[in-house]
Amino acid sequence: MSFKNQPTPPIRPNRCQLFGPGSRPEIFIKMAKSKADVINLDLEDSVSLKDKSIARANIINAIKDIDWGTKTLSVRINGLDTPFWYTDIIDLINLSGNRLDQILIPKVGCASDVYAVDALVTAVEKNINRDRQVKLELIIESAAGITNINKIAKSSPRIEAISLGAADFAASMGMQTTGIGGTQKNYYMVHENNKYWGDPWHWAQTSIVAACRANGLLPVDGPFGDFSDDAGFLAQAQRSATLGMVGKWAIHPKQIELANIVFTPSEETVSEAKEILSVMELANAKGEGATVYKGRLVDIASIKQARVIVDQYEMISKDS
Ligand code: COA
Ligand code: MG
Repeated sequence: MSFKNQPTPPIRPNRCQLFGPGSRPEIFIKMAKSKADVINLDLEDSVSLKDKSIARANIINAIKDIDWGTKTLSVRINGLDTPFWYTDIIDLINLSGNRLDQILIPKVGCASDVYAVDALVTAVEKNINRDRQVKLELIIESAAGITNINKIAKSSPRIEAISLGAADFAASMGMQTTGIGGTQKNYYMVHENNKYWGDPWHWAQTSIVAACRANGLLPVDGPFGDFSDDAGFLAQAQRSATLGMVGKWAIHPKQIELANIVFTPSEETVSEAKEILSVMELANAKGEGATVYKGRLVDIASIKQARVIVDQYEMISKDS
């Protein structure tokens, strides 16, 4: 380990973030009753320009009136290139009481974007003596955002998580696809006349994971657009979990259970991790730093890997 320890991320279940447009208040109660850990009420791109004000009012009422239980309650504001974002922040904090947990900032391109939001949130909170700090989650979904990710990840102590927004990211990068996440039919290699599909989102995902882990934040995978394709969703989510992401968005309720399955460590994984911890405890008692478990090397790094799984499992079990 470096002389500086890696900071620990916030302790919050974040297996699934369920989205719903602010202009569809009839689904809010269904969202509250769902099994998603995080609720993202949307003011941005799922709401048409003519509905921006009514969506804001719907969301403010819903934050006050609906019982959101222990979920992390989040609102996605409009982007900083629109005329809406500052009213979103001012009205949300001034008018919705203190239940709102976080604001989700879309299309973050540089650290100053976050600074601007932090400054406004801070002023509005102070003005009403809010007793809880509103946290921030950011969406990286542009060439600028991914290029500046390391500065963005340290731009405010309010940040808890960063998500990858595949659709806007693809557009900003000029990627030739209209798919939102998952396998892209033209992204393959050929070997002996067979096609092998690669993962075009891999670099963006690992960049976000590294920036988050280095700064004690939660890395989250964004939307998978084709909600009829369960196998595609599961494959994408499993790749994200393998790379270190803690959860994934759901843009339709049927994706919630899929995300919860993938991001809850299985009993088999947890019991193997616990076995590794006990094997290493015995090894350490004998003064050994490395030993053999099921025919493979385990050492001090394996303790850390196993702890990630056991800690994640214990945190989720405590909450549900
Ligand atoms: N959260 C909770 N419940 C939802 C829901 C959501 N996001 N979307 C749909 N439902 C409900 C419907 O009301 C319906 O309930 P019912 O069985 O009681 O009638 C049920 O789930 C089935 O819905 P379905 O008819 O399959 O979907 P739809 O046509 O109503 O809506 C979408 C489909 C994709 C438009 C809708 O899910 C949606 O708006 N998703 C979020 C989009 C978003 O926020 N995007 C921004 C982030 S990328
Ligand atoms: Mg987007």
